[in-house]
Amino acid sequence: MIDSTDQKVPHTCPPEGVVGWRSPSNIALIKYWGKQPQREQLPANPSLSFTLSHAFTDMWLYWSKRTQADDPIELKLYFEGRPADNFRKRIYDFMLRLLPEMPFLGEYAITIHTRNSFPHSAGIASSASAMSALALCLVEWKYRCRRAVFDLHQHYREVSNLARRASGSACRSVVPQVALWGAHPNVSEASDSYAIPLAKAYRDFAELWKDLILIVDQSPKSISSSQGHALMESHPYAATRYQQATEHLSVLLKAMKEGDVETFGRVVEAEALTLHALMMCSPTPYLLIKPQTLEVIDAIQNWRRTRDLPMYFTLDAGPNVHLLYPQAYEAEIWEFLATALPTFYRNPSRYLADEVGHGPQPLEAQDA
Ligand code: DP6
Repeated sequence: MIDSTDQKVPHTCPPEGVVGWRSPSNIALIKYWGKQPQREQLPANPSLSFTLSHAFTDMWLYWSKRTQADDPIELKLYFEGRPADNFRKRIYDFMLRLLPEMPFLGEYAITIHTRNSFPHSAGIASSASAMSALALCLVEWKYRCRRAVFDLHQHYREVSNLARRASGSACRSVVPQVALWGAHPNVSEASDSYAIPLAKAYRDFAELWKDLILIVDQSPKSISSSQGHALMESHPYAATRYQQATEHLSVLLKAMKEGDVETFGRVVEAEALTLHALMMCSPTPYLLIKPQTLEVIDAIQNWRRTRDLPMYFTLDAGPNVHLLYPQAYEAEIWEFLATALPTFYRNPSRYLADEVGHGPQPLEAQDA
């Protein structure tokens, strides 16, 4: 969605300035896996996620007078204090695409400082938090140039839309607690272009949940998410899968509204296994889970059966396991970890205890 007023409003940015945002990661319960062909990052099916709290990216974007003129965008990027070339290139390419609608990007020297709350190598998806933080910084900068007030609550659709164009799942991170992205027949305001918040009953349900991320493997993935999405274009089960995601979403929304934890857990686990099954039977089959992923899943399912506890797993596009449970069961979950998965329990670098959170927060310049 290009804001049609962009062309009309002159950009008279302050000569220098800084904007900063903390933006969280999110974990999909209904998975976005496949894009609409030939469209700019529109999803092939609707998805739904919990917004996390402790796994986040902090980003500050500084602008000042340009010092060189040979590049269309003058950009320096520091990740945890050091220049990060790959990440810089990804953001540079994105900004280049945005130049026609955000001409101020080419008029200033831009320096970005960014860091994650979780270890870079932990294998936790960081593009959702990083790209949503970037979208927040860019949209707030745009409002500063217009001498207008930026209010995330009011402008979240614009931010979410921009975040989506940087990385699909990032569009969900700007919405507190629980986000729905993608058109769905039962939710009239749902859109393929941006994520939306849900009504109070769903937010209240989401607020109850915690996510213990169990880090099975930290090595880089053999196939990126973008490659995985592309493989869905010629996947023999694509049409059935997109239909199933829409149906799963209906069942999940009903379960959340009614507080039906068992149905919720069943659909969440079905989505995780379906995601990895799609990878295994894609035109170029591949495997992102590891033997220990299955051991952890087995331990969770056994413990749930024998102790009758509401504990469920989900997976993103990698081997790490997200253990979801209502916060009332905190003590039982730590007992489970200590007893059934002691190698994780004894090594705090192998887990990240997270919970459903309240979305992005602005940062002060002096925090940088
Ligand atoms: C498995 O959002 O990382 O985590 O849009 O190409 O940047 P791009 O992909 P990305 O895909 C995320 C896939 C997923 C499922 C999900 O988050 O819904």
